Amino acid sequence: MQLQNMQNCWALITGGSGHVGQTAADTLLELGASVILLDRDSESLKELTLNKYKGVENVHAIVCDLANESAIAEAMKSVANITEHKLNVLVNNAAFVGTDKLTGWCVPFEQQAIDTFNDCLKVNLSAPFLLSQLAFELMKNQEQGSKSIINISSIYGVVGPKIELYEGTDMGNPAAYAASKAGLMQLTRWMSANVAPSVRVNNIVLGGIERGQPDTFVEKYNANVPLARMATEEDVKGAIAYLSSDLSSYMTGQSLFLDGGWTVV
Ligand SMILES: NC(=O)c1ccc[n+]([C@@H]2O[C@H](COP(=O)([O-])OP(=O)(O)OC[C@H]3O[C@@H](n4cnc5c(N)ncnc54)[C@H](O)[C@@H]3O)[C@@H](O)[C@H]2O)c1
Repeated sequence: MQLQNMQNCWALITGGSGHVGQTAADTLLELGASVILLDRDSESLKELTLNKYKGVENVHAIVCDLANESAIAEAMKSVANITEHKLNVLVNNAAFVGTDKLTGWCVPFEQQAIDTFNDCLKVNLSAPFLLSQLAFELMKNQEQGSKSIINISSIYGVVGPKIELYEGTDMGNPAAYAASKAGLMQLTRWMSANVAPSVRVNNIVLGGIERGQPDTFVEKYNANVPLARMATEEDVKGAIAYLSSDLSSYMTGQSLFLDGGWTVV
C-alpha cells in the first residue's frame, strides 16, 4: 500500500537493541525504510549486526548512553553523517524499565532512591526532549516521506499501579517510571504543536508485555485486562507502521493505547 511505503526514508530507534526496539526496527525495515539502532548496550548491537541483520545494508548501529547529553549530541552528528542530514522517523523507545537492576528502583516507595529517580527522568524524559530537538533539524531537511516522532509511553504514565499484582514477587513499579512516562505523554502534546505542520508527534501507551514474569503476576494481570492477556512485542508492529507512515497523516499530539483495555476498566 502506497501510504505505508517508506522507501528512501530514515528511521532512528533508541533502545534499538531491546525487545520493543528490535520489533520497531523490523517493522520499519519491512516497510522499506533504512534504520539506525541506537543503544548503550554495545554488545547487543554488535550481536545484532553480526547475526540477525548480517548483510542487511540498510541497518546501522550507534552506541550511546542517553544519560549523557554530550554523547547524545555526538550520536546525532553520526546520524546526520549516515543519513546525509535527513531523517523521517524517531522512535523514543529507550528507557529505564521495570526489569532494570538499579538501586532504590523496584522497591517499596519508602526505599525508592532520589538519585535513581533523577537518573530515570534523564533517560526516559530529558533524552527524548533533546533527541527530538536535534532530530527535528534533520527532519526539516527531508523532503520525501512522512516525518514522525513516536514516543513509547506506558499505562503507568496514565494510571497508578495495582500493588497487589506484585505481592510475592521480586517485581516492583517505581514512581520515577510513572512520572517519566506521564511526562513523555505531555511532551508529545507540547512538541506536536511546535513542530507542526512539517513533523507529527504521537505516543504509544503500552501495556505490560509478557516476558517470563511469575505465573501469579501474569494471572492477576490478565484478570484485569478485557483482552485477557498481556501484550507481545508483535502487538506493537501495527502501531509503529501506522504512526511512522502516511497512514496516520492527519494525526498528531495523540496517544494510541495498546493496553488490551487495561485503562478502560
Ligand atoms: N516491557 C513492557 O512490559 C513495557 C510496557 C510498557 C511500556 N514499555 C516501554 O517500551 C520501551 C521498550 O521497553 P522494552 O520492554 O523493549 O525493554 P528492553 O529492556 O528490552 O529495552 C530497552 C532498551 O533501552 C536501552 N537503554 C536503556 N537505558 C539506556 C540509555 N541510558 N541509553 C541508551 N539506551 C538505553 C537498553 O539497553 C535496552 O536495549 C520502554 O520505553 C518501556 O518503558 C515496555
